[in-house]
Amino acid sequence: MSKIPFGPTYEEMLHPSKVDPAIRQQALQAKQQELDPMNLFNITWRNEDNQIHKIVLPKELTGVEANIVVLLGKYFPSGSHKVGPAYSTLIEGCVDQTIVPGEHTILGPSTGNFGIGVAYITNLMGYDSIVIMPDNMSKERYERIEKYGATLDLTPGTESDVILTLERTFELKKDPKNASLAQFELLPNYRFHRHVTGNSCIEAVKDIGNGRIAAFTSAVGSAGTIAAGDQIKQAFPEAKVIALEPYECSTLTNGGRGQHRIEGIGDKMCTLIHNVLNTDFVALIKDDDTIKGLKIIHDGIDILQEQGITKEQALVLQESFGPSGLCNIIGAIKMAKYLRLGPEDNVVTIATDGFDRYNSVLEDLERRYLETEDFVLRRWFNDIFRKIGEEDVFDFRSPQKKEQLFHQKEKDWLKFGYSKAYLDSMKDQSFWDQEYEKIKHYNELIKKLREKS
Ligand SMILES: Cc1ncc(COP(=O)(O)O)c(C=O)c1O
Repeated sequence: MSKIPFGPTYEEMLHPSKVDPAIRQQALQAKQQELDPMNLFNITWRNEDNQIHKIVLPKELTGVEANIVVLLGKYFPSGSHKVGPAYSTLIEGCVDQTIVPGEHTILGPSTGNFGIGVAYITNLMGYDSIVIMPDNMSKERYERIEKYGATLDLTPGTESDVILTLERTFELKKDPKNASLAQFELLPNYRFHRHVTGNSCIEAVKDIGNGRIAAFTSAVGSAGTIAAGDQIKQAFPEAKVIALEPYECSTLTNGGRGQHRIEGIGDKMCTLIHNVLNTDFVALIKDDDTIKGLKIIHDGIDILQEQGITKEQALVLQESFGPSGLCNIIGAIKMAKYLRLGPEDNVVTIATDGFDRYNSVLEDLERRYLETEDFVLRRWFNDIFRKIGEEDVFDFRSPQKKEQLFHQKEKDWLKFGYSKAYLDSMKDQSFWDQEYEKIKHYNELIKKLREKS
């Protein structure tokens, strides 16, 4: 049997300063060699100096008094934080011995970034892998997955056709040689984001405004990232957690299931791992606003400067987001207005990845619009950032609204063999807290087995 190449514990991903100093040093050097397995120890929100990678958005951009703080996922190995859930699911499988190197081929159902993460992590840890994803996503995604050596298995459609990838995975899983890192169903995704992302968010606002978090916005795909909200609420019980979805695909809001352009989110389901108990609001963001917003941030440095943003700030923003990051930012501004937040209040959100995989999305925008000259971008800036309104925000705090989400979850998951009793157990916060508690067990086990190997 091949050896399991162990990486960090959950605690070490949150605090890489707790990694053995010699290993940390090797990991930092490995950043120059993308496929060096020591990069497993760079799965963290922090830089070399243990500071969280973040931007506080200029108020000239947001137009609101509240501080909007964005954690930047593009610094993770493979270019997005989705590598965290991919690694966590794989390493839990290793220590539980449900995934065996040399025996299992790893399946990664995805719309892109998780697939990139799976391809990357399986390369580092020595597994064969198959990434199952829709055939109409940005071409940069396929290129990366193939570069990391995974096999692509494409299903028809786009972002909103991710159900087809789940059905395909369900079929492939019948072969005992295949093991699935099922991001929509498995709790390591929840554990990674509640512990690593949630606590990183809490630390990120330490010296900003009142040092607390008033709201957390997260555009949901697998609904892993939004688990950070569970931890944020532990620290700041007043915090509101807001799930964002495309206006064109309003599944949580009202069962809507349309096509949309925001890659990585809006997958036409309430995922199994979504703790809807902590989702206070759902807000809808128009897909083209996120693409136009990205165009302004990426190509409109002059326009941003006209608005009073310094060139330095504009250059930092330029490469830091993709469409879902813009969705999160637009949602954060909307909620700062809706919740009447002031200068001491902080809204935290996430940029899952950076611009590097979205050139083709802006090329497509150029094809769809006759003109994207400066005067057009100026108008878009006004329409998209300045005129963000309080419409399309839905309060999901009542028992009736929770029931609506539980019902959506049943509709989406009973057909994949999950029992009603299991889904019902998720209606109590203790289910989620018990799942979170398992982190201690996995921290110990990963450490112990790593020392042995
Ligand atoms: C670009 C992008 N944004 C947002 C998300 C949503 O994150 P989550 O799956 O944690 O809900 C994803 C998920 O793959 C993504 O790739």
